[in-house]
Amino acid sequence: MTWPADTLARANDIIARYPKKRSAVMPLLYMAMKEDGRLTDDGMRQVAELTGLTPAQVQSVASFYVMYKTEAQGKYLVSVCSSISCFLLGADDVLHAVEQAAGVPAGEADDEIGVEHAECIGACGGAPACLVNFELVEGLTPEKAKEMIDWLRNAKPDVINADELQTLFGGRRSFDWAIKDENGAVGPYPAFPPFGTAAHNTPPLEPGRLPSGSARSVPLEGGAS
Ligand code: FES
Repeated sequence: MTWPADTLARANDIIARYPKKRSAVMPLLYMAMKEDGRLTDDGMRQVAELTGLTPAQVQSVASFYVMYKTEAQGKYLVSVCSSISCFLLGADDVLHAVEQAAGVPAGEADDEIGVEHAECIGACGGAPACLVNFELVEGLTPEKAKEMIDWLRNAKPDVINADELQTLFGGRRSFDWAIKDENGAVGPYPAFPPFGTAAHNTPPLEPGRLPSGSARSVPLEGGAS
């Protein structure tokens, strides 16, 4: 298998940023996921060819990290943190609400939604927290989690953006000073513009203003501060 020319050009740009091309293995694995919708043997062979690693070495990296998925995760991967801070503040109830609303048990996926529990996602101050396509939403409740799943099923957004998730469904945040998320994810992998896994030119979101295509079009009360 050979990737399309634009993907190969992007991969070579990324490889050129590192002193040794093998160091680009992780970003290239995300690109492989985007190409095939999941990590395939062919995709890993392509990464091996580009980085000079053996396919076995690439597979050993891919199998070590949980974010590299060899099974399709649907269009939206919902990862509910179940580590200690989130657990103490109701993560089990949030996960249960997500599973019930999606009709998908943790660890499984249908064509549209995958559900999984995740270890600490670095948002303990905004617990309970979860990721949708690796975009963060904090201060979830079971009710808001259900609304979020219903929104994914009904609105079917093409881009998942953390600021939008937080405005629609979030509560207390850990990082009000964080950089605005201006890109957003286009699939169940992290959104990095240089890797081609992010939406381009998503307009910056102002507080209380939702992008066109959102399920709601009026400013919300009680959203992120
Ligand atoms: S314990 Fe859930 S984000 Fe850290």
